[in-house]
Order: sequence, then structure tokens, then C-alpha cells
Amino acid sequence: MSGQQVNTGKRRILSGVQPSGEAHLGNYLGAFRQWVDLQDTYDCLFCIVDQHAITGQYDPALLPQRIFDMAVSLLAVGLDPDRCSIFVQSEVQEHTELAWLFNAVTPVGELERMTQYKDKSSRLESIPAGLLNYPILQAADILIYRAQAVPVGEDQLQHLELTREIARKWNAQYGELFPEPQAIVGGTGRIMGLDGEAKMSKSLGNTVGILAEPEEVWSQVRTAVTDPQRIRKDDPGRPEVCNVYSLHEFFTDSSDLPDIAEQCRTAQRGCVDCKKILAENVAHEFEPFRDRAAHYRDRPEEVMEVLATGARQATVLAQETMAEVRRKMGMDWRKALT
Ligand code: TRP
Ligand code: SF4
Repeated sequence: MSGQQVNTGKRRILSGVQPSGEAHLGNYLGAFRQWVDLQDTYDCLFCIVDQHAITGQYDPALLPQRIFDMAVSLLAVGLDPDRCSIFVQSEVQEHTELAWLFNAVTPVGELERMTQYKDKSSRLESIPAGLLNYPILQAADILIYRAQAVPVGEDQLQHLELTREIARKWNAQYGELFPEPQAIVGGTGRIMGLDGEAKMSKSLGNTVGILAEPEEVWSQVRTAVTDPQRIRKDDPGRPEVCNVYSLHEFFTDSSDLPDIAEQCRTAQRGCVDCKKILAENVAHEFEPFRDRAAHYRDRPEEVMEVLATGARQATVLAQETMAEVRRKMGMDWRKALT
């Protein structure tokens, strides 16, 4: 395995994903589709953030499989280990070291202001400190590679803004080292779950796995909520308010879209048939994913090798940054005294 060139002169990006097992439609539209495209233009690092996963309830016995399945999903959608580094956060220990050091410049008030924190903590009786400090580790994930840009969904923009603030504050206090990373927001906007109520998530059952067989894709897509005004089959529908139609925009050939919209507005096609077309197109786009996933599931050692190579490549970069960080923060005291 040749692996990614560490010094390509390209701009560097990093992004992260929770080890939630097999990826779903929301991961694909919100992130991975874009990651696959970015591989050509940027020096890319993609991180499975297992140390972020511990800030919520989880079963340690299930974590290894969830990490592995997410890695398979990343490879399945087309991340190419010869063109990017894919690794597991806990295998590059410098992330947590830098996160601790960032505690020195992160205002607690800013952490408490984060929407994700307010959301998650409001449902808890006892709030683990990790939930509050979550964005500090995320800042470390990004800044340890001095990444210039971060592809993220809109829900992560606030964390990225805090990352920039941490970079600014640290630089001001200890000397210029970290760039302020820019967000690369995909054109997706907000794709709702199939229930039309919440963001797609596996636990809510309002999505479909990217490795689902065609029958399974159909059984999920058929449950999708449509234009609520289209109650009977001959009611005219409004594609512009229908989530099924927004999904057609991603999966259906653009030359077929005017027909889908027109048939809806004139009530010439019912929602069930409209969803059938969508399900077929989704299953078709996922087909190569299923093939690649099957390859890797039969060869777990290849997946492990990809992640080991990724961790080695990431470690080289992380250690360079940490040497500078320790020096600027006064922790290479032996050298300083001789
Ligand atoms: N917090 C991100 C999420 O929940 C995951 C993440 C962790 C991340 N570290 C990151 C994303 C660094 C981008 C960059 O989706
Ligand atoms: Fe939505 Fe299609 Fe039904 Fe129109 S026909 S409301 S686009 S599912």
C-alpha cells in the first residue's frame, strides 16, 4: 500500500465522524459525498472520533465493531486510502494531549453557549465534563494538523467558530502557530429524516443505511413523509415542500426532475410511485458501496492496515505540531535549560 504523500503542498483538510457503525443516508449526503470529491483537491485526513463517542451513553463492548463498520463505510463510499489518510482518533494520542493544553485558552462561557451542549445537557441529570469539553477535543483534532479547512455540516459551524477562537487565543498567548480553519459547507442544506421531523439518525429509524439492499431501501423510503396537503391521490402536490422531492434532487438524474415535479403538481403520479422511483435511484447509487463493503468485510485485515497506515501518517504530522506546542508553552524545559 503506497499511502498518501505526507507533503504534497496541497491545502490540508480534516474532518471527523463518530463511530456509529454502518453509515446512513444522512452521513452520506451531509458529509461523505463531499469528502470523496475533496480527495483530489486537498491533502485529506479523515478521523473516526472514538474519543468523542464516550461523551454520550455507549457500550464499550460494542465500540470496536462500530469503529470497524464506520471504517468499512468510509471505504465503501469511495474514500481511497492511496489519496487520503483514514484513522481512528485514539490511535493518535497527541489529540488528547493538545486538547488538555487548549483548556488553558478556552473560555468556559463559550463552551456553555454551544447549542449541541445545551441540547444534550438539558436532557441529563448529571452532565459529564466531557460533554462540555467536547469542542476542545474537536479543536485539537483540527488544529493538530494545522488544517486550513474543515468540511462540516451546518450543525458544526459553531464548533468550528470556537476552534478559530481557540487558535487565535493560543497564538496570541504563546506565539503564531495555528491557522484559523475555514469551513467548507456542502451544498446540501438541511436534509430531514424520512419522518420529516428530525435530523436523520439511525436510532430514530428515519433513515436508511448506505449498505442496505434494494428491498431495504424501499421499505424505508416508502415510510417517508410527503407534502401533507396531498392527502388523496388526485390532490395536487407541492414538490418544493416535499422531502421526497429534495431527495430526488440528489439521486435522480437532473433531466428527469422536471417530470417528477410536474407529475406531482398535476397529480398524475401518486406518492407511492414517486417514492418507488426514488428508492430505485438510491439503491442504484449505493450499489458500488455494497460491492466494496463486501470486499472489505471479507478482508478485515485490509481495513486494519488502512487504519494503521492512516494513524502512522497522521502521527508524523501531529508530532511535528506537538513539538512546537510544547516548546512554545515552556514544556521542553530540559532543552531550554541547556
Ligand atoms: N463533532 C463532529 C460531529 O458530531 C465530529 C467531529 C469530531 C469533527 N472532530 C471533528 C468534525 C473535527 C470535523 C472536524 O459531527
Ligand atoms: Fe412528494 Fe413525490 Fe408525493 Fe409529490 S408525488 S408529494 S414529490 S412524494
